[in-house]
Amino acid sequence: MSNPFCDQLNNVISFFHDKIMSCCAPEQGLVYYYQYNNKKEFDFSSLNKNKQLYFEELINNKNLPCHRCFYLREKKDTDLILDKYKEINISHWTNCNCNCVYCSRNQNNNFKSYKFFKRKNQYYNLLPIIKGLYEHNLLDKENLIVRFQGGDIGVLKEFETLVREFDRNGINMFHFLSNNIIYQPIIAEMFNKKKALLVTSLDCGSRETYKRIKRVDKFYKMINNLIRYKSECGDNANIHIKYIITKDYNDNLQEAENFLSVIKDIKVPQINYDIDYRDIMMKDNFEFFIPNIYYKIHELFEEYCKENNCIFDVNPYTKNILEQGYFSSIHK
Ligand SMILES: C[S@@+](CC[C@H](N)C(=O)[O-])C[C@H]1O[C@@H](n2cnc3c(N)ncnc32)[C@H](O)[C@@H]1O
Ligand code: SF4
Ligand code: SF4
Repeated sequence: MSNPFCDQLNNVISFFHDKIMSCCAPEQGLVYYYQYNNKKEFDFSSLNKNKQLYFEELINNKNLPCHRCFYLREKKDTDLILDKYKEINISHWTNCNCNCVYCSRNQNNNFKSYKFFKRKNQYYNLLPIIKGLYEHNLLDKENLIVRFQGGDIGVLKEFETLVREFDRNGINMFHFLSNNIIYQPIIAEMFNKKKALLVTSLDCGSRETYKRIKRVDKFYKMINNLIRYKSECGDNANIHIKYIITKDYNDNLQEAENFLSVIKDIKVPQINYDIDYRDIMMKDNFEFFIPNIYYKIHELFEEYCKENNCIFDVNPYTKNILEQGYFSSIHK
């Protein structure tokens, strides 16, 4: 690639607990700060300079990890390096009020790591940085998408203050990713302003399976919160429900059917199908053949959505793997 370009690098800034960087890609992109903490002065004027320099480095240094990334593409004449961000990923805290078996926070998936992450709250305060980004005119207010990831927003102390700051200064849309164990009045408020999307993984249709996957007994709480958003916000409750197929937990038709009967009554507008990415990315031999049942569940959901005026979504990456029938790492 003689003149490489990346939209993530151009448009996005992501806040993690250990670094502030361009993107959430599995490869390492531009890092603005390692180990940021509030004692360090945040240099707003350096952001655009660093971005510009990194674009140049991409042309000159073919060894950068970005050259293995699927987001990297050839530059078009219409591609301009922007001086404002259009997307913010917020993931500067790691604690959560549940403990999903598939979660990347729990790579060892043991009780010790769960306790560590449960204890650890946010690593720095984001509010002063967000205020600074607006003050330095570094955000494209009209198009801005802010994605809360985490950890879970249910335990993020800054959550409401941050949402209010964005809402006051200009934002297009919030994407809230949450386990939905805690009902958030501010989300209902943003739903009613048509500024919010809530993406939440239910992954099952029964209390018992929920307990096995999430490792907390909050199935009914989660469902009641969905019902409450629907009753307070009606069609403005823009909720996408995920089913992440997780081997030996919910990879059976009975569970998938139970899932559909639970959400049918709530009338959520979209189902997102996904596959546990530990299976498709973190295998020792980097190979995973998609079992037949994964296609059957896909068919079941697709059929349900057609009949129930619901959108069925599979992210392009997963769709590609399903079409191939297997995953094999490009690093092999
Ligand atoms: C790490 S979570 C954080 C946000 C929030 N706590 C939640 O669970 O939605 C971000 C997203 O990654 C997804 N996720 C986590 N582990 C996954 C896995 N092994 N495979 C596929 N998706 C996963 C979750 O469903 C969620 O949508
Ligand atoms: S090419 Fe990939 S790793 Fe590099 S900045 Fe873009 S998204 Fe991030
Ligand atoms: S709710 Fe989200 S952050 Fe919490 S354990 Fe599950 S996937 Fe991880």
